[in-house]
Amino acid sequence: MTIPIPAEDPRHVPNRAVIDPAAITQNTRALGTLLEEQTALMAVVKADGYGHGMLTAARAAIEGGATWLGVAHPASALALARAGLDAQILCWLYEPHTAKIVLPEVLSAGVDVAVGSMDMLALVSAAAREADRRARVHLKIDTGMGRNGVLPWQVREIGAAMREDDFIQVTAAWTHLTSADEVDDPATDQQVEIFDSCVRALEDEVGPIPLQHLANSAATLTRPDLHRDIVRPGIALYGYPPVPADIALRPAMTLTSSLALVKEVPEGQSIGYGRIHRTSRATRLGLVPIGYADGLHRAASDRIEVLVRTESGDRRVPQVGRISMDQIVVDLGPDSTARPGDKVVLFGDAGGEPDAPSAPTAEHWARAAGTIPYEVLTSVSGRVTRRVLS
Ligand SMILES: Cc1ncc(COP(=O)(O)O)c(C=O)c1O
Repeated sequence: MTIPIPAEDPRHVPNRAVIDPAAITQNTRALGTLLEEQTALMAVVKADGYGHGMLTAARAAIEGGATWLGVAHPASALALARAGLDAQILCWLYEPHTAKIVLPEVLSAGVDVAVGSMDMLALVSAAAREADRRARVHLKIDTGMGRNGVLPWQVREIGAAMREDDFIQVTAAWTHLTSADEVDDPATDQQVEIFDSCVRALEDEVGPIPLQHLANSAATLTRPDLHRDIVRPGIALYGYPPVPADIALRPAMTLTSSLALVKEVPEGQSIGYGRIHRTSRATRLGLVPIGYADGLHRAASDRIEVLVRTESGDRRVPQVGRISMDQIVVDLGPDSTARPGDKVVLFGDAGGEPDAPSAPTAEHWARAAGTIPYEVLTSVSGRVTRRVLS
């Protein structure tokens, strides 16, 4: 038996990741304006839609014009297929033990699969035989990422194997860029050169390849010449462009909590494990019942602000001391009117008055913690209930 966590009733916990599907729809639409008509948009909704809820993200992206959905796991692909969404699905990461069980069902559901090695081709071929249908295969070419994908000198061999296999239909050639967010990095052009020569070699073996795709968010935003047949943006859909963008994108997730207590402390009060912070004056501290087990990055301790909504208005206040597993402390200031129960916005769109201070973003958290917004968003843990705005 598998037991889902948490066992807590979410109605009794104040922490929420508020998801705005309209933001994902608008972001998808905005990205779509950058594309030529013949280029399709694959919404990357892996990792539970970058923490936003996979089905929520998928539906919102389709409404914004996405016609493809991309996920890592076959299990995610199956869940998408079962939801009956109007989009072609691609999944790209599996290993033999689970692939043997899940791939026949995935193929029966009409999902496209990526192949990145001879062993993966054998798994897909066997699954297609079992499902009694041809597998639509996207051949992944490793042009420099060094992860999934066949190396350039293996392309002809795997091409020939696919040509000889009646259960394989070569649908696409694709690759993943290592450095598209560094716009001046020559690595991108080097990868494209390798990719193009691999595609030519593959076409020699199997004939024309219907589809090519390689652009993630960064390349979608900065390299129209790399859009090809499909672009595969992820993070930009959720409102965090990895490069400066000319289009308007807005965050789709807001993480909120509520003050558990407020207390007055003297100057010199130490706060939290290791006493890394002491108050520089008498002040009011607020305790917020959300911590690293909810997804806050401990590395951001004492380096980030949050927004507190009090009766007298919104205020950005510093988080002080180490972030604990279940709680953080914020310095509300000596004159604060904050009370237990007041709303706290950790990041996202606080939806305040136009001239009120805005909440920090996942980008602020990422910078404070020395990571990237991708990790901040996908770290929001299973014990934080997602509330989807309608
Ligand atoms: C294969 C693949 N394509 C596209 C993406 C989307 O990348 P980004 O979120 O940077 O747009 C990812 C995410 O890492 C990926 O793994």
